[in-house]
Amino acid sequence: MSNNEKSHRTGGLHIGEPAPGCAKTDPMLIIDHVKKSFGGLTAVDVEHLEIPKNAITALIGPNGAGKTTLFNLLTGFDSPDTGTWSFEGTSLAGIPAFKVAQLGQVRTFQLTKALSLLTVLENMKLGATGQRGEGILSSLIPALWRKQDAEIEIKAMELLARFKLDTKKDDFAASLSGGQRKLLEMARALMTDPVLVMLDEPMAGVNPALTQSLLDHVINLKKDGMTVLFVEHDMHMVRHIADWVVVMAEGKVVAEGPPETVMKEQAVIDAYLGSHQDTDLGVVTGRINIIPEEGK
Ligand SMILES: Nc1ncnc2c1ncn2[C@@H]1O[C@H](COP(=O)(O)OP(=O)(O)OP(=O)(O)O)[C@@H](O)[C@H]1O
Ligand SMILES: [Mg+2]
Repeated sequence: MSNNEKSHRTGGLHIGEPAPGCAKTDPMLIIDHVKKSFGGLTAVDVEHLEIPKNAITALIGPNGAGKTTLFNLLTGFDSPDTGTWSFEGTSLAGIPAFKVAQLGQVRTFQLTKALSLLTVLENMKLGATGQRGEGILSSLIPALWRKQDAEIEIKAMELLARFKLDTKKDDFAASLSGGQRKLLEMARALMTDPVLVMLDEPMAGVNPALTQSLLDHVINLKKDGMTVLFVEHDMHMVRHIADWVVVMAEGKVVAEGPPETVMKEQAVIDAYLGSHQDTDLGVVTGRINIIPEEGK
């Protein structure tokens, strides 16, 4: 573990015993009775959950536990059967995805959604929302949207430089490796200056050469004042950078706590880690590529 990782752990996040649904000292997301079924299958059934502010929270659990479905519900990409949730005190139930993003809560996808036939820079520009050029009045004044387009491009290039993708700005997204596409998605999510960044398996498909830089990028989001909630099967990543871990199984939150303690709990070992607890799950999750990435 690098010093960077150690010195940036945030403690004192919860009130009382760390148990499923425990209160946080400064919650950013508060979720109540959120339930979603597909046919006869209950994918998500979260009684109560609070996500701490300005911390890195890992959401873990076996395949099919409901992690991605919960992300979809919280970000307005799907709607629950029941339940309410709030983001910095604002109720988000029924709010569409684009509006959720405008409010400062963005997410990335388990399967990256970079648009292959657009360039890297064009993908970044699409990440900018609330463009003045979209308004009827301002669209009649080209000087206004031209100025705005220039501002967006400057911001996009700054972010691309930070993620070491600036030299690829004119390449089609299709030509990027899996790991670079993950980085592009993270960079694009930052175009809207979010306060909460939700990452669905940021390490999946990422070549080991890029993993440290990805970890550093996530730690830097917190340093820049953002809150991070990420889904990950890679226990290395969870142990090294998470301040708090929430464990889901069969749609429910079965445990939560700091990484050192929660991963030793019997319920967690039973539900998830099993005999794999000391093995790197990279191969299972695709982090270690069986098919080499382009250019490797
Ligand atoms: N659109 C859908 N229609 C039907 N069933 C679905 C749908 N989306 C998810 N499910 C089911 O809901 C359950 C939870 O799926 P989800 O993708 O949320 O799990 P997950 O925890 O993200 O798993 P993984 O670690 O494999 O990504 C699974 O049984 C899945 O098959
Ligand atoms: Mg998933």
